[in-house]
Amino acid sequence: MNYKIVVLPGDGIGPEVVEASIPVMTEVGKKFGVSFDFDVRLFGGCSFDKFGEPVTVETLSACANADAVLLGAVGGPKWESLPHDKKPEAGLLKLRKSLELYANIRPARVYTGLAEGSTLKKEVIAGVDLVVVRELTGGLYFGQPRGMTEDKGWNTMAYTKDEIIRIAKSAFELAKKRRKTLCSVDKANVLEVSQFWRNVVLEVARDYPDVKLSHMYVDNAAMQLVRNPAQFDVILTENMFGDILSDIASMIPGSLGMLPSASLGTKYALYEPVHGSAPDIAGQNKANPIATIASIGMLFDNSLGMHIASDYIQKSIEKTLEQGYRTADIYSEGTTLLGTKEMAEKVKESFLQIFEEQPYGFAVA
Ligand SMILES: NC(=O)c1ccc[n+]([C@@H]2O[C@H](COP(=O)([O-])OP(=O)(O)OC[C@H]3O[C@@H](n4cnc5c(N)ncnc54)[C@H](O)[C@@H]3O)[C@@H](O)[C@H]2O)c1
Repeated sequence: MNYKIVVLPGDGIGPEVVEASIPVMTEVGKKFGVSFDFDVRLFGGCSFDKFGEPVTVETLSACANADAVLLGAVGGPKWESLPHDKKPEAGLLKLRKSLELYANIRPARVYTGLAEGSTLKKEVIAGVDLVVVRELTGGLYFGQPRGMTEDKGWNTMAYTKDEIIRIAKSAFELAKKRRKTLCSVDKANVLEVSQFWRNVVLEVARDYPDVKLSHMYVDNAAMQLVRNPAQFDVILTENMFGDILSDIASMIPGSLGMLPSASLGTKYALYEPVHGSAPDIAGQNKANPIATIASIGMLFDNSLGMHIASDYIQKSIEKTLEQGYRTADIYSEGTTLLGTKEMAEKVKESFLQIFEEQPYGFAVA
């Protein structure tokens, strides 16, 4: 089987983490009998420099015709003063919107041996393995009316029933594959839109009797995420609450360089590390490629249906960290400091070792 993957390395450390991670993807594919045609395209600031647009119509169309899209990161000081619609980040919003990517999936897990890397206490984050499912194309960021005058500024948080149903289903489906626990976060004590959200989530829940559903107000959820994050499995929430909660959750694993993400729609999917282009370390082979490799793991799982291959990628990351290999962002005394390329190379080696030891997956072993 051959898959078409559009690769958008982007700016700053984007090209470094993507270039380092692609060999891991190719190797995993090879062992599982699949190959990839990589269609590598300019996106973000580098696309603006060449074409005057952060994303071209051709690139949007290539993404829509691919089996999946892998993105590095975009942006940087060079493009900060551009008009809003020419900024690299505007290209990203345009891409998400044009592919109708309504579900943003952000896992946050603590790897064995890395608990000391977080600013939270080791005993608080030990064993945390949660996913934030954020609605990405509705709510306050897109609602009408919106505007600003000299005396007033306003936005609208609105959700249709269909918008809530589709994101709730994504979250329930994910919870079903995990620990079967879903916490829907809202502000139903104050907002009608949240009361409506809660009613619809309850309706969807009837189709998932095996998933344990709870509801939590967003202010409490923010507090609980730093007080006792291990209580969460899947968190479902609307766009703005998800934006904030997923950033809080991102601090649990200790570095932005560890956090993968997937943005999913009905037809298309985009995978990208959560981090940005990190101009402060760009071009120095210092960036952590794990977020990108883990995003590739999500790609195998969600877009190719290759769940076992995805498990191998996860195990390979774990093994590499257990062996004490670290990039600068997660380095601590007594561990071995590696660059971007070398770290990805170690993950590939770990994969080959694990595959040789347990070629049929972990359930059989
Ligand atoms: N999805 C995206 O492409 C995306 C997301 C966030 C920010 N941005 C853009 O990136 C640029 C820089 O933004 P920022 O500095 O706020 O966020 P950032 O994520 O680029 O960097 C924040 C900090 O984390 C570090 N960091 C990030 N990724 C790392 C990695 N893989 N390994 C090691 N360290 C890592 C950086 O060195 C920096 O100190 C801006 O132009 C911003 O708009 C893009």
